[in-house]
Order: sequence, then C-alpha cells, then structure tokens
Amino acid sequence: MPFQSQKPYQFSSLLLSTLLCVPLSLQAQGPSTDTSTILRSAVFHHPVIDTRGMVVTQNAIASKVGAQILANGGNAVDAAVATGFALAVTLPRAGNIGGGGFMLVYLADKDQTIAIDYREKAPAAAHRDLYIDATGEIIPNDSRFTHRAAGVPGTVAGLHHALINYGTMQWADVVAPAIALADTGIIVSTDLAENLTRAKRRLANNLASAKKFYKDNTGNKDSNYQVGDLFKQPDLAQTLDRISVGGPEGFYTGRTAELIVADMQANNGLITMEDLASYQAVERKPVHGSYRGHDIVSMPPPSSGGIHVIQMLNVLENFDLKVAGQGSALYINRMAEVMKYAYADRSMHLGDPDFYEIPQEWLLDKSYAAKIATKIIAGKATPSDEILSGKPSNYESPDTTHFSIMDSAGNAVANTYTLNFSYGSGITIPGTGMLINNEMDDFSSKPGAPNAFGLLGDMANEIQPHKRPLSSMTPTFVFKDGKPWFVTGSPGGSRIISTVLQQIVNVIDFGMNSADSAAQPRLHHQWQPDQLQLETGFSPDTIQLLEVMGYDVKTVPRTWGAVQNILSQNELFFGGVDPRRADAGALGPDGLECLDNAVACRLP
Ligand code: GLY
Repeated sequence: MPFQSQKPYQFSSLLLSTLLCVPLSLQAQGPSTDTSTILRSAVFHHPVIDTRGMVVTQNAIASKVGAQILANGGNAVDAAVATGFALAVTLPRAGNIGGGGFMLVYLADKDQTIAIDYREKAPAAAHRDLYIDATGEIIPNDSRFTHRAAGVPGTVAGLHHALINYGTMQWADVVAPAIALADTGIIVSTDLAENLTRAKRRLANNLASAKKFYKDNTGNKDSNYQVGDLFKQPDLAQTLDRISVGGPEGFYTGRTAELIVADMQANNGLITMEDLASYQAVERKPVHGSYRGHDIVSMPPPSSGGIHVIQMLNVLENFDLKVAGQGSALYINRMAEVMKYAYADRSMHLGDPDFYEIPQEWLLDKSYAAKIATKIIAGKATPSDEILSGKPSNYESPDTTHFSIMDSAGNAVANTYTLNFSYGSGITIPGTGMLINNEMDDFSSKPGAPNAFGLLGDMANEIQPHKRPLSSMTPTFVFKDGKPWFVTGSPGGSRIISTVLQQIVNVIDFGMNSADSAAQPRLHHQWQPDQLQLETGFSPDTIQLLEVMGYDVKTVPRTWGAVQNILSQNELFFGGVDPRRADAGALGPDGLECLDNAVACRLP
C-alpha cells in the first residue's frame, strides 16, 4: 500500500525511488557556480563589500577594532591579534584569554600558509584516569565545572606568536583597544543581557563569576545587566595591561600566573606555575586537499577539523551535489552518510600528534574516499552500527567563536578559539576578570564514554600530561587560482566540522555568496548517536523523504554555529556574517570610513 498513510504527505519508499530517478533536467537545480551570482540582484542575503579588506566576527565591536587596525595600515595578522583580544572583552562567553585555539595565516608575499596551534595543554599532574572514581566510573562533571577541568591556557601565547612572527605593529598597540573596552566598558546588547541571564546556573556557582557578570558586583546573582547598561571589566583591564607591558611573561609568570595558581591550589585544581611558564604555542603543517579544482587548506591535528573536512570533500567529489539540489533530501542523504564515516574515523584515529601517530595520509587519500563513496547508496541511511559500534549520548550546547580577516595585500587569517563551553567552566579566576576554560573535557575521559558533544574517543585522545585535547575547530582557507578565495570557520563543538563542510559546498557546488552560504539551514550527523539533526528551515516533505530513507530525524528547535565568511573576488572582499548571531558584524576600512563620515562615504 505504498501511497496509503495516515499522514497526508508521508512519502513511501516507492515514491522516494521515483523521486530519486527523476530525469536530471527535472530535478532541483542549485544556483549556477558562475561567480556572477555575487551580483546584488541575484542573492537573498547581501554580503558587506569592501575594497581594502574585511573583518568578520561574532561581535560587531570587535570587528570594528579589527577594521580600524586595517585602516591604520596594519596587516591581517595585526587585525587578528587586536580582534582576538577585543573579543575576550566583548564576547565573554567565547572570546578569551583563559582558553586556546587555532590560527591559520596566509602570507601573500611568501605564498605560504602557517598553522598556529595554541590549544590548551593538560597540566603535568594530569593522567589517564583523572576523572575516574575508585569503582572505575566517570565522576560526573569533574571534567566540566571544576578547577580540575582547566587546561593550561594558550591564547596569549598564540596571539603573541602570530604578532611577533607575522604582524607589523607593536604588541602594546594591538592589545590597547581591548584594554580600553574593558576599562571604559561596553554597552550591554540584547544578546549579552539575555545570554548572561541564561548562563546564571553556571556563572552564579562561582563567586568571582557572580561578582563579575551580575550588576551590583557583590555576587548577587539577581542583579541582571539590562540592555543599555554599561558593562565594565576593571580586573580584566588590569590583566590585559600586564599582558600589554610584559608580553606572554605578563600572563604566564608574575601576578596573573600567581592569581591563577592560588585559585587552583585553593580548589583542587592542577595548573602550577611551572605549567604556565612552560606553555608554548607551536606551528604545525597545515592539512591540504583539493575539491573540484579548488585547494583546501585547514587546521591539522590536534584539531580533527581539517582532516575530516577534506576527507568528506574527497568523498563528496564522487557525487553530483549540484544536480541533487541544495537542501534536497538527496543532498542531505549524501552529506549525512559522508559525515557518519568521517566522525567514526575521528573517534578512532585522532588525537594530539605529539603523542599519537595519526594515519593522516590514509585518511586524506582520495582512493580511501572513493571506497567510502561506493558504500553510500542514494536514498538509503546506513545504520551507524554497521559503520562502527559506539554508544549514544546527549548533547550539550557549546560556545566557541571564529573570526575571518583579509587585507588588501592578500594576507588572510582564519582563527577559531574557545573556552570550550559557553563561559568555559564558569569559573572566573579572582583578581583577573578572566574565565578559565574547561577544555580537559575534550579528552576522552574513558574509552567509549562520550564527551559533552557526544563525541566518542579512544586511546588516541586519552589524557596524558602536557598533551593537547582533540578539537573540532576548523579555521579553513579555500584557494582558487592559487589565491585565498574563501575564508571560513565556525563555533559549534562537534558541529563545527559539518558546518564548515557545508560552507565549502555552498560556495563551490552551489555558487553562493558568503552571506547566502552562512544563512542556509544546517544538517549534522556525527555517526553516534545515529541521528540526523536538522535546524528548522527544511521542508516537512523533505523530512518525510529522509525518514523513508531510514533516518531518525531530529529537528533541533534552535540554531547552531556562527560562521564568519569572506569571499574575495575581483579585488573586492565580501563579508558574510552568520545571521543566527545577533551581534555579529562584518566591516572593512571603507565601511569604517563610512561609519565615521556618512556624508563622504563611498562603498563599492
Ligand atoms: N572545545 C571544542 C573543540 O575544541 O572542538
């Protein structure tokens, strides 16, 4: 009874197979890959355009800081470092100096991409069974909301490494805007007011956080900041000032380090003066792949993002996504199957390359991808258990942040950094105004036990002293004709990798501009749990087709990720912010001039 159903629009498998066999000429067509789609009349969402560079971040105040640096003659790295510090003030849930991350830098004069790893490290006292009790069970929340959850922060070392090696400006000059913002305060936006109120359960548990993030500064958590209030961060201003004066030593040694260690000692934390003093950012060789004639350059381990984005693109190259049509059931089916194989490999094979030999060449090999492609059948969901076995788990909301920057000399920066969860562990180190990360939760606490993002891990990602936990952060460049053409990245925990994948497919396969690409509804499948997650925005008919294919479809009643895209074409920069995040902003030097002098401004 293929067409009989209680639901009026439920699709049968017969109808599904009919749909999948529709002549190509009648199937949904994606937009042309012709670059003329960037013309304003041909798009739904309009990128911000500039002739002299572009800064795209999750917070418009920080974007303005970066754009000002470009306007003053700084390069993309100068702007990135200033923006990174500014976000630590203006986006406290994810911008940070108490966390870590990854920066990809393209140097136009050398035609070279540098990957800077400033991921947090496990303290020396950490060990494999750190979060396991005497009965062998995981101690609930020990790796998430305690001082023991903190890895040794990497952000200050990473930003300093970038500036000293690839910037042009003085360190103090790029830290200064953040100090000013912390000192004089920022006006509380609707987004910040709502976010701080929502985060109360986590922030109010820690007295220093309650004092910092609630208005009367006494720890009274009922004194919420209101929209329009001034939010000052005097302790953070002083911490930034010590960084400005002393460089990394102004953070990893001296007063700030002493404050961190005192709080660790008082609360069973692990980080010592020696852990801090020995922290160093390192450069790694970026991972490189190709997709339909474009070069893809992304972050190598200890991020899993680059390897798996390239692995998935290698598989997708075997399918004609344009014919399937963006957002169609067949497109989602292709994408979801490819994701399952990548996330299954991630759980087994990825970890810190300084501690574990990752089979990188094999994972990036196009013939391995071709083998995966032969197992993917159009219109069918392969159960995850047939790919590899694992355990289902819950999902917890993450908050990382990404920014993308390009300058008029052709340099580019893609930077993703994080405290792990929104506001990290929720713990502010007294006297510093700085939240500390809970990045230790990104290790596999016990083989087969999921982390907060439901990701499974194995030996490759077990805890060891000085090791970096596996990440999903995926700052990425797409090159066309040898030049950076698309810069992208996103927060989203385990969803970062699938989100970045969709950006690349949107611009290459479907010819979208940077803003249209950012706006598209997203899908995610991470192998375990065996569940296809969709943002709202996909049609009920499409969802029914997917259910007939065998997917357990979960429409998530909220959005995820915050991509910050730049497309560069014909000597113009097209900034595409993610419309999901209220305070995001794209701005270049032309736009800044326009803001400052509305009469004289001339935008392209
Ligand atoms: N903490 C999230 C990640 O690094 O992927």
